[in-house]
Formats: sequence, structure tokens, C-alpha cells
Amino acid sequence: MTQLPLPPLELRELVGPTDPSYFENATGEPIYAGLPTEQWRSYLDFGCGCGRSARRLLQQTPRPERYVGFDLHAGMVRWCQENLATDGFEFHHHDVYNPGFNPDPHKPWVQPFPVADRTVSIIEAWSVFTHLLEAQAEHYLDEVARVLTDDGLLIGTVFVFDKAAFPFMQDSQNTLYINETDPTNAVVFDRGWLSNGLTERGLELVHVEPPAIRGYHHQVRIGRVGQGRTAVDWPADDAPYGRLAPPLVRAGAERIGLDDHVPEAAEVHVRAPMPPTDLLLPQYDAAQARVAELEGEVATLRTRVRKLRKRVRRLEAEPGAERLEQRVGESVSDGAVR
Ligand SMILES: C[S@@+](CC[C@H](N)C(=O)[O-])C[C@H]1O[C@@H](n2cnc3c(N)ncnc32)[C@H](O)[C@@H]1O
Repeated sequence: MTQLPLPPLELRELVGPTDPSYFENATGEPIYAGLPTEQWRSYLDFGCGCGRSARRLLQQTPRPERYVGFDLHAGMVRWCQENLATDGFEFHHHDVYNPGFNPDPHKPWVQPFPVADRTVSIIEAWSVFTHLLEAQAEHYLDEVARVLTDDGLLIGTVFVFDKAAFPFMQDSQNTLYINETDPTNAVVFDRGWLSNGLTERGLELVHVEPPAIRGYHHQVRIGRVGQGRTAVDWPADDAPYGRLAPPLVRAGAERIGLDDHVPEAAEVHVRAPMPPTDLLLPQYDAAQARVAELEGEVATLRTRVRKLRKRVRRLEAEPGAERLEQRVGESVSDGAVR
């Protein structure tokens, strides 16, 4: 293949480290070590960003036979489609809501993975579960369980904490968010909650690398139970303290890669607080639609009642109505209808 284009800086800035070496695979070695050749059959890149892994996979031997990358940022997906789509490599816009990258609150919060059941031998989710709210993570774990082949592996990263050290958290609270204006900025799951979630779905942790900086992401591999692999537990995190903050989303980030205008770094801002209604908007819209439907039904019933009253009045006014009423009364008290 001829020299692969490098995503422009403004796209690289959206996903993390911008150094071109981060997007390169100079040795052509598989980007994840220790996997058998047949593992590379079918690759699903969840949150593919601007094609960092796709670009490196295109340079490796063996190359995945089929690669599907998808992301909620339309501009990054467009760049990948225009620059990296090739034999067996395809990219899709996963059109779900995100406060910074896909901010129309009418969009759904989740969608199915764009692949059929049990067809994927590697799912990559690199720095993606670290941006999913708890309910979204539940949905996407279901999707992982749906699409993995028997020998399939999810390879990805997660931020985890131990809820045992947070005595004030309810049973139903298992996730920490660091940013109240954009909770997807960085999301930390209770590791017990995550392990239980895997078990419930017939999945297990088969490899975990502790973080290089204390509290930073764990690199995980997750497979189906019963494949002869050994399940592992969360290792102790004894790494040295350090700092590695995720980028803040700049205003207008959702248009990067779609418009010519690239917001200046100076435009980086903290978004106005996301009103709770944003989270509830789909439910609110559905409730409004139901109210309108019920109001329609009430109006129809009112019209019918009005018409029936009119009929009753007309019947009452007819000659002989009094005698008829008397006879109906007698029939009812006799217990017989004549
Ligand atoms: C930190 S970047 C990592 C990108 C890429 N995995 C990499 O390693 O270069 C996180 C990516 O996940 C994407 N993302 C976050 N939530 C997503 C979701 N629910 N569905 C699809 N993509 C998502 C973001 O748009 C972003 O491109």
C-alpha cells in the first residue's frame, strides 16, 4: 500500500495523544501481542476515532480479513471513510448522543453494534468504556456478548475503583463521574460491578494489565466463559502517582472534520451544565406524544357523550316515553325483561 495519510492535527486532538508515532506501526507486528493468527479474522473497532488503530492494522501482518470501525463523531468517521476505507476495511457513523461530539439531545443514547451475532473475533474498545455512562456500558456489554465469536476477545481499557472504599455509595450506584457538565469526560466503574456484569453475560476477564500511572486505565482482555482460558482478578494498583487528564471538548467539536472552520484552542471552554432534561429528553418526548394521543381520545369520548346525551333527550321528549320508562322500571323490579 502507498503511504497512508495521517489524520490532521485537529482530529488527532479529539482522541488523545497527537504525536504521529502513536498512529504508526513501523515494525508491521500485530498491534496486540500473543494472539493466534486466526484471531485476526474479524475486527470491530468500537469508538474508532480518527482511525489510529485502523491505520496501524493496515500496516500489520496478518491484516484483519474484515475490519469495521464506528464512532459517534461524524467528522472523524468521514475522514476515515475518505482516507482509510479499503478492501475489507469499512467505517460507520454510530449516531448516538454525546454532549460534546454529537450534541443533538434527540439522538438515542445507544445503538446496536453494526455487525451480526457471533461474527467478531476481536472487539477493540480503546479508551471508550472510559467515556460511557453506566446504562450505556450495560447496553454495550450486552452487544459484546452478542457479537463475539466463541474464541472472540474484547481488548480495551477501563477506569476502575473499589467501591468498598466508598461507604456512602448505594447498591445501585457503581460509577464515578469527574465532570458534572459532561459526564462522559471520564467514567470510572466499580470493579466488582464490572466483574459481575461480565459473569451475568457469560463473559470473563482473561487478562488485565494494571495502569502505568496509579488510577489510570487498566488494559483488559475479555472472552467468553468455557473457552479453556483462565479467568483473572483485578491486580493491585501499585503504580507511581502521576497525572494524565483526558482532553476537554472544545466548543463546536462536533463540526470538526465536517466544516472548514476549526475552533481555536482558545475557544476551548467548559460547557454550560447539561440540564437533567437532556438525559430525560427521549422519555419526555415519548410522554408528550402519549399525552397528545390521550387528549385526542378524551376529545373523541366527549363528543360521543354529547351525542348520546342529545339522543337521550330526544327519546325522553317523544310521546309515550313516560309509559315506556315505567314499563322498563317494572321489568327490572320483576327480574324479567319483557
Ligand atoms: C479517547 S477516544 C479513543 C479513540 C480510539 N479508540 C483510539 O484509541 O484512538 C474515544 C473515542 O470513543 C468515541 N466514543 C465515545 N463514546 C462512544 C459511543 N457511545 N459510541 C461510539 N463511539 C464512542 C469518541 O467519539 C472517541 O472517538
